[in-house]
Amino acid sequence: QYTAEPFVPDGADLPALRRAAAGCRGCPLHRPATQTVFGAGNPHARVMLVGEQPGDQEDRQGRPFVGPAGKLLDRALAEAGLDPADAYVTNAVKHFKFTRAEPRKRRIHKAPSLRETHACGPWLAAELAAVEPELIVVLGATAGKALLGSSFRVSQVRGTVLEEEIHGRPERLVPTVHPSAVLRADDREQAYQGLVADLEVAAHALG
Ligand code: URA
Ligand code: SF4
Repeated sequence: QYTAEPFVPDGADLPALRRAAAGCRGCPLHRPATQTVFGAGNPHARVMLVGEQPGDQEDRQGRPFVGPAGKLLDRALAEAGLDPADAYVTNAVKHFKFTRAEPRKRRIHKAPSLRETHACGPWLAAELAAVEPELIVVLGATAGKALLGSSFRVSQVRGTVLEEEIHGRPERLVPTVHPSAVLRADDREQAYQGLVADLEVAAHALG
């Protein structure tokens, strides 16, 4: 069974977790990827945003949400009244998973499996314990399944405030679509407005 568990130091703060995560070999995804992309942002954030996994840009730069999806997310957050600089952003899976159509060609994102998402869960749990956010914004299905279980469906719960016990602590969560899904949508403007509306629910829940 793949798991990050033996690599996660007990009771560590974020800098120590980040250092340890750089050496994680809890599942096979660390091998082809450039580096671990750990969470980043305000260590005392009131809001933690959880995405799927780093993309191509994130894998190269070592920071989450610095590529096109991240740009769109920052814009949507600001529009909803949430300062992106005040948030903590991370991913359910800390290594970029990809395929190539041909050798040396562009790297194409591949969704992580449930096994890989489970394997990486201890890092997300440790980040939650360290940051203790007041609210978690769940970006898409992979983050939703990681936090709320495999029966999670974005379309059923997006834009609502959920109260669930996660890793032994009561959490409030607002699920929404993944910003990459907005970039892929047929009607991008409508999808974008839907994301902003869900983030406004999160902003209101924070008060
Ligand atoms: N998509 C994600 O889910 N996370 C990132 O960091 C970038 C793109
Ligand atoms: Fe470890 Fe997660 Fe990377 Fe797998 S994806 S090697 S569990 S950090």
